[in-house]
Amino acid sequence: MKKSHLFSLVFFYLLLVSVSSDVIHDSCDKAAKGDPNIKFDFCVSSFEGNPKAKTATGVADLVKVAIETAIGNATSIGSIISKLLDNKTLDTYARNCLEDCSELYSGAGSSIKSGGKAFEGKDYGTANAEISSAMDAPDTCEEQFKEKKGYVSPLTKENNNFFQLLAIVLSFMNLVPK
Ligand SMILES: *[C@@H]1O[C@H](CO)[C@@H](O)[C@H](O)[C@H]1NC(C)=O
Ligand SMILES: *[C@@H]1O[C@H](CO)[C@@H](O)[C@H](O)[C@H]1NC(C)=O
Repeated sequence: MKKSHLFSLVFFYLLLVSVSSDVIHDSCDKAAKGDPNIKFDFCVSSFEGNPKAKTATGVADLVKVAIETAIGNATSIGSIISKLLDNKTLDTYARNCLEDCSELYSGAGSSIKSGGKAFEGKDYGTANAEISSAMDAPDTCEEQFKEKKGYVSPLTKENNNFFQLLAIVLSFMNLVPK
């Protein structure tokens, strides 16, 4: 390859990277200002490690990335819950809570998948409703452990992250030019 070609390729790549990092920063900035549940740093870091986010040219691309992350998150939280359920000394109440959380996260995963399809089809109303319904999962999961004295949720971090990730999806969907 000629040096000049290589140069323009590198230049183009850098341009692409800086454009996508602007999209991430701009969108996260708007989202954080519009929703107290969203922290700017969390928002940026949830995209920065993702190669697909690097090629994003608009906020719609980021919605797709965040939806994929959230689906992956629902699955990995499901595995964390399965591991916690392996504990033979759990009492019935804690076990029931965890089993509920497991169902909630599996339902949330399905809702996010439907929401993602609706978003692709530009059916923003349905997309919004599906993502909002998935947001109930971390809340309900967390609340159960608070309802009985002496119980502490082992999933607080996961529930908070998941909730915030979905808040980002919702907020970014609203930023998509319609
Ligand atoms: C969930 O997604 C976030 C990115 O926002 C990631 O940092 C975190 O590790 C994921 N958690 C799980 C349990 O997969
Ligand atoms: C298993 O559950 C008991 C009772 O909730 C808890 O004290 C213990 O730390 C758990 N063990 C593991 C390996 O998580």
